[in-house]
Amino acid sequence: MRPDEGMTAGAVDEADLLRRARAARERAWAPYSGFRVGCAVLADDGQVWEAANVENASFSLSSCAEMNAVRAMAASGSRAQIVAVAVVGDGDDPCTPCGACRQVILEFGPGAAVYASGDGGRPLVTTIKELLPHAFGPRRLSQGR
Ligand code: THU
Repeated sequence: MRPDEGMTAGAVDEADLLRRARAARERAWAPYSGFRVGCAVLADDGQVWEAANVENASFSLSSCAEMNAVRAMAASGSRAQIVAVAVVGDGDDPCTPCGACRQVILEFGPGAAVYASGDGGRPLVTTIKELLPHAFGPRRLSQGR
């Protein structure tokens, strides 16, 4: 399925994806920061990939929930496109993906919707395009070959 075909963000059950991200947060390993994050990634083949952040005593080896979810999808062999990403972090405010995770999401989801939430208020509804403007992506790289 091509990136611009199949499931679109309009067909996404945002509340369900956020629920899955919140449930995934329960599996976080975050003894150093105490900040737990869960993520649920919906691909255009209908599969949902969930992950939490996993920290390490060697702090710089910690990995974000979003990165873990996208890499689980890619490492499974899936080459589906990401339709939507839900992220839920501890605290009240929406937990938006960090800069590195935005780049990782872009690789398989240039058209992805992003739902960022905490435990209070309304989720922030945005897109990867809005979160990572003027991005360097696979299409630009192919011009050098
Ligand atoms: N973290 C995520 O999992 N995703 C983000 O987008 C922001 C930060 C994690 C990394 C680390 O385990 C903890 O939150 C504090 O930075």
